Amino acid sequence: MTERKIALVTGGSRGIGLACALELAKAGCDIIINDICDAEKAKPALDEIKACGANAYFYSFDVSNDEAVKENVDKMIAEHGRIDILLNNAGITKDGLFLRMDMEQWERVIKINLTSAYCVTHAVIKYMMKARQGSIINMSSVVGLHGNPGQANYSASKAGLVGLTKTLAKEFGSRNIRVNAVCPGFIQTAMTAELGNIDEYLKAIPMRRLGTPEDIAKVVKFLALDTDYVTGQAIEVAGGLII
Ligand SMILES: NC(=O)c1ccc[n+]([C@@H]2O[C@H](COP(=O)([O-])OP(=O)(O)OC[C@H]3O[C@@H](n4cnc5c(N)ncnc54)[C@H](O)[C@@H]3O)[C@@H](O)[C@H]2O)c1
Repeated sequence: MTERKIALVTGGSRGIGLACALELAKAGCDIIINDICDAEKAKPALDEIKACGANAYFYSFDVSNDEAVKENVDKMIAEHGRIDILLNNAGITKDGLFLRMDMEQWERVIKINLTSAYCVTHAVIKYMMKARQGSIINMSSVVGLHGNPGQANYSASKAGLVGLTKTLAKEFGSRNIRVNAVCPGFIQTAMTAELGNIDEYLKAIPMRRLGTPEDIAKVVKFLALDTDYVTGQAIEVAGGLII
């Protein structure tokens, strides 16, 4: 019997992260979810993952705190032995027009969306190198590729993830570690709940609907499990929003 793969999903207690965790669990992976919330808040997510027949574990820490990340990743390896798949998914928005954007607003989004991917990947990749295999997926966004008024900080952080993805794909391809990015469009989650009138957005989407977290999860599962030869790609999953 082959050993079950273990996937670490950051920001995995809800939304897109949870949908990806569930998709990977259904495909036979065991799941470690991280989030900044406490264990009680993450319990429904863990229960849902376990209901798919997977083992599920929760680690609470801030993905942008380098020390906390190192400590927790070392603990994960000590307790579960391996991390085969890393999904850097945790992220926030703090939107505002650029002229009114203060340094705190800028730095916080860059730190939680981009520096976090440095911290977690740095801690995990050495174990993937020892295992001579791994798949890393960074949750970017269409706005990281195309920009969006009011999201200078967010789109810069998501563009940064694309650059990181392509560079790590080049540095680690020979080690059998693949690194890709997924770039969602407008997906129905807590993050987009405050968009207001969605009719305007729908007009811009050829498929005439917002995406679901499951739409993203299918592509994450493909990158994590169904291909051995795709690396360095930033895949838009946006119903044709930008063609
Ligand atoms: N919803 C969309 O339309 C959309 C579009 C493009 C990209 N994305 C990206 O997808 C990812 C998931 O978004 P979502 O819509 O599910 O949002 P969400 O707010 O529902 O989920 C984000 C999760 O990240 C966690 N998180 C935030 N800061 C953290 C930290 N410092 N450490 C650990 N966990 C932290 C939150 O607690 C939350 O559980 C984000 O990176 C987001 O930028 C979302």
